This record gives sequence, structure tokens and C-alpha cells, in this order.
Amino acid sequence: MPDRIQINEVSPRDGLQNQVVHLSLDEKLELIDALVAAGLTAIEATSFVSPKAVPQLADADQLFPRLPRPERVSYSALVPNVRGLERALTAGVREIAVVLSATDTMNRRNINMSLGEARQACIDVMTAAGARGLRKKAYVAVAFTCPFEGKVAPGRVIELADEMFANGADEVVIADTIGAANPREVSSLLADCVERFGAGCLAAHFHDTRGFALANAWAALTAGVRRFDASIGGLGGCPFAPGAAGNLATEDLVLMTEQCGFETGVDVAKLRLAVAIAERLVQRSLGGRTTAWLQAQDLKEQCRRDNAGAAF
Ligand code: COA
Ligand code: ZN
Repeated sequence: MPDRIQINEVSPRDGLQNQVVHLSLDEKLELIDALVAAGLTAIEATSFVSPKAVPQLADADQLFPRLPRPERVSYSALVPNVRGLERALTAGVREIAVVLSATDTMNRRNINMSLGEARQACIDVMTAAGARGLRKKAYVAVAFTCPFEGKVAPGRVIELADEMFANGADEVVIADTIGAANPREVSSLLADCVERFGAGCLAAHFHDTRGFALANAWAALTAGVRRFDASIGGLGGCPFAPGAAGNLATEDLVLMTEQCGFETGVDVAKLRLAVAIAERLVQRSLGGRTTAWLQAQDLKEQCRRDNAGAAF
């Protein structure tokens, strides 16, 4: 049996939270429909944060109850505080994500809390969510480098991950929020995490700021990680973390891992349709590193069909 990769598609949340063009509710649903049609079964749909902080996602309460195929897709939402959890519960959310940045300054910039307050907020949200039977993910953000405090010690990340697991996290996502990690750092930290916590409850989240996202994903994969966040067309980035360019593109991750014999359950042709929809909606061109190659294959196929047609 092929080794399975679980992709958590984050374009509706991480992807849209910093776009200049704000999508309407129907446009978001159109995008999510296309993601589901492409075979994605885990999607981070939105966040229940302050609408003043992230106006792009202010419609979370209306969006969540309208998400397509909830019986087939695990939809999650980011929740920063108990107030956000209450909104999420009302909207029918069954899986939440809390975000704990590894440094004090990043927590202050992102959620206006010190590191200590952020740890407590994550614990409070997970405890309340656990009591309601929700699945809980905890992100350790800026796990390699913080845009304000520089390099983050791996020991700090392990300590925070440990604390999140001890307080009910079902999964910890190690996140290179600004795309500053290199494959050697990723191999080392994720191998340590896998050894300590096991691969089944770990995931990785990369950004492609320096073009290393795919190499970093491969480093995580060889360390044993099988769960990855990705975003179609590389759409995304945190508005509160300077230097955070787009995410690891889903099509890049799918193409690479499938060619290496892994199974993702994602249909690349339909995924490209989703990228085209996202491009139309955010009104700019998107695309992972494999896009040019995929387009060249389309052209070849078109020529082959045209030539075959000419023969008759
Ligand atoms: N949902 C909606 N509104 C919320 C909220 C939530 N989860 N939490 C707080 N608010 C509202 C408050 O009611 C208050 O509204 P008001 O100004 O109309 O009275 C306002 O937001 C400020 O609340 P306060 O508790 O003082 O929070 P804050 O200003 O310290 O901000 C956060 C803290 C966490 C709410 C805010 O920083 C935030 O939402 N950050 C999101 C960060 C993010 O999404 N980052 C990207 C992903 S990692
Ligand atoms: Zn991100």
C-alpha cells in the first residue's frame, strides 16, 4: 500500500487573510467547492478572530454553516480566545486550531498577548473545546525564525509543543510562518519532535519566501511527518509577520509526493481548476513552482490533440 500524505488545505484561511481583494461569502464557497471537488478532505475554512484584526474573514459565522460536503471533509477554524470559541461552537465547528507563537514579540504583534498570556489562552481554549468534544490542533508559529527576535531555539519549540500536548492538543503543527527555515533545520527539529511525540500527531506548515518550502517539506517527510498544510497556488501569508510570503503550494506538494510514490487523494487537474478560480477571485496570478511545467504539459497535450484531429 502506498504511503499516505494528509494535506490540510489552508487557502480559505491563511490564503485569504491578507488579500487586498476581500472575497464575498459566495466567492469563498465557490473556491471551497473547487477544493473539495479536487479531493481535499481537510480544509482550514476560516478564523474566528477579531473582525478589526482580519476583516477579510469577518464572515466566519455565516460561512461555516454553509460549507459543502461536511460529511466528507474535516473543516477546521482558527480560534484565538474563548470568545472566538463561542462563535465557532455556534457556527458548528468540530475542529479548532490555536496559534502559539514561539516568541514574546510575535505573540504581542499577532494576538496582543505576551508569550505567557498566549500559552494560557491556548490552554483555556483547548480545555473548553475539549469539554465540548472538539478536535484540537495547536500551531507553534515562528518555530524556526521570528521576524522580530531572530532564530528560535529548537528546545523552546519542543517545550511549547510538549505543553500543548499536555493540555489536550490532538495535533501540533510546527510552522515556519515567515518561510525562513532551511531543510537542515527542518530535518533536525522535526526528527526530534517525531522521536519525542510520534509522527501521527505532528504536522508541518511551510512558506515559500525563499523558495525552500518544497525542500523543507521533503526534509519533514524524511523525518517521518505525513501531515502537511498547503495552499493552492501558494496563496497566503500572515499579515502580522513581516516577510511572510506565500505558503507551500498544494500543487507542488501533490506533484512531488505523488511522483515519489506517496498517495494524496488529490486530483491535479481539478486542483488546477481550483487555482484558476482562486486567481480570478483574488485578481492576480498565482502558482507554485510546478505551474510552468504543468502548463507546458497542457500545451503539449493540446498540440497532440490538434495534430490527431488534423489527421482525420
Ligand atoms: N471574535 C470577534 N471579536 C473579538 C474576538 C473574537 N474572537 N476577540 C475579541 N474581539 C473583539 C472585542 O469584542 C473587542 O471589540 P470592540 O473593540 O468592538 O469592543 C475587540 O475585538 C478587541 O478585543 P480585546 O479582547 O481587547 O482584544 P485585542 O484587541 O487585545 O485583540 C485578538 C486580541 C486575539 C482578538 C486579536 O488580536 C485578533 O483577533 N488577532 C487575530 C490574529 C490573526 O488572525 N492572525 C493570523 C493568524 S495566526
Ligand atoms: Zn502560514
